[in-house]
Amino acid sequence: MRAVDIIIKKREKEELTSEEIKFFVDSFTRGETPDYQVAAWAMAVLLNGMTPRETTDLTLAMAHSGKILDLSGIVDIAVDKHSSGGVGDKTTFVVLPVVASCGLPVGKMSGRGLGFSGGTLDKIESIPGYRVDLTTDEFKQQLKKVGIVLTGQSLDLAPADGKLYALRDVTGTVQSIPLIASSIMSKKIAAGAQAVLLDVKVGLGAFMQNLNEARTLSNLMIEIGNLAGRQVVTLLSDMNQPLGEAVGNALELVEAIDTLHGGGPWDFREHCLHVSAQMLVLGQRTPDLESGRRMAEQAISSGAAFEKFRVLVKAQAGDVSFIDEPQKFPKAKFIENVKADQSGYLTRVHARIIGEAAVALGAGRARKDDSVDHAVGFLIHRKVGDQVEQNQPLITIFANDEVKLAEARIGVHTALGWSDKPVLPLPLFYT
Ligand code: URA
Repeated sequence: MRAVDIIIKKREKEELTSEEIKFFVDSFTRGETPDYQVAAWAMAVLLNGMTPRETTDLTLAMAHSGKILDLSGIVDIAVDKHSSGGVGDKTTFVVLPVVASCGLPVGKMSGRGLGFSGGTLDKIESIPGYRVDLTTDEFKQQLKKVGIVLTGQSLDLAPADGKLYALRDVTGTVQSIPLIASSIMSKKIAAGAQAVLLDVKVGLGAFMQNLNEARTLSNLMIEIGNLAGRQVVTLLSDMNQPLGEAVGNALELVEAIDTLHGGGPWDFREHCLHVSAQMLVLGQRTPDLESGRRMAEQAISSGAAFEKFRVLVKAQAGDVSFIDEPQKFPKAKFIENVKADQSGYLTRVHARIIGEAAVALGAGRARKDDSVDHAVGFLIHRKVGDQVEQNQPLITIFANDEVKLAEARIGVHTALGWSDKPVLPLPLFYT
């Protein structure tokens, strides 16, 4: 078999066989098929799609491109969560310690920023020293010992996804339902999850722009999970506007710390409580969502969740003083408030424009080897439906470069939409 023939077949909208998909993934993993061929193939998949059968084959080939973690004997039931990617989504930093402190051990492998959407690893790396490169053995030992792990995809788990993910980020091939479904599910299968909560984001700042696409992605991941013998529950959550206030690596971490202390923006806290309750039910720690929510609230108000976050950071060699004193996180050189240039009701705080503007400030990558700037980003003070008076502060920009600051100033204005008439707030979740 030759990679070029597989690319051409997909370009011609033909269905790939299981053998072709396996060959392609394996040869890419071994470094025999170069990045440029994989990028061309990914673009063909983005444009021409894949059948559910091809997507399942791709998922399994990527999951089996490395080791499959076996967590039996370490946890009673291995529960994992994953978000399909959004702007301002720092849910993991709150949900993991909340559920772990409620007695549900949770080990998660997260990714870096992808396109306009931020990455959990880039955010947690704002903490000096924090290791995101745990080996599989370290992952297991830490999960057993402290009941919480948050690391990168170890090189021996689903390595094909790790490589493809980084390529997709910089080749305009993120927004493909089969590529997203297989990327997420291969990681979850390889990481040993028996039950997975998938938070499928939908809206302007999500890879799924409308509810139909989100439902398709969600059903596809449930189908793949079932075929692989995993229990999958999905949530559809709004991503038309950023989640919470902070967008940008360290800024988001600080907001998560605030939320773990019982503060934080209302929408973000609600989102975290709901996701935590779902995980506690999936992990059989509680029979229903109401009691799960109460447990989660209690974990925050008692301080147990924040304490668990400290345990996590310590276990992964992070400097805990940064989470104890978040003012230690690096400050951007330029901090500027953008004020409302008119009075009215906000109809739009375009999450994608904000996400792209954050990447342009340096919070994300233009090329796959770029480093990210942890200090830059935005605080979004007002949400869709809010009534705002002219000159009230709307958004704070954190920049490290004067030219980028000027661009961000323009960017944020284009993200906003206005009406003279009252506007309904956006829901947090869809059914
Ligand atoms: N999250 C992932 O892990 N992969 C994707 O492709 C998109 C979001």
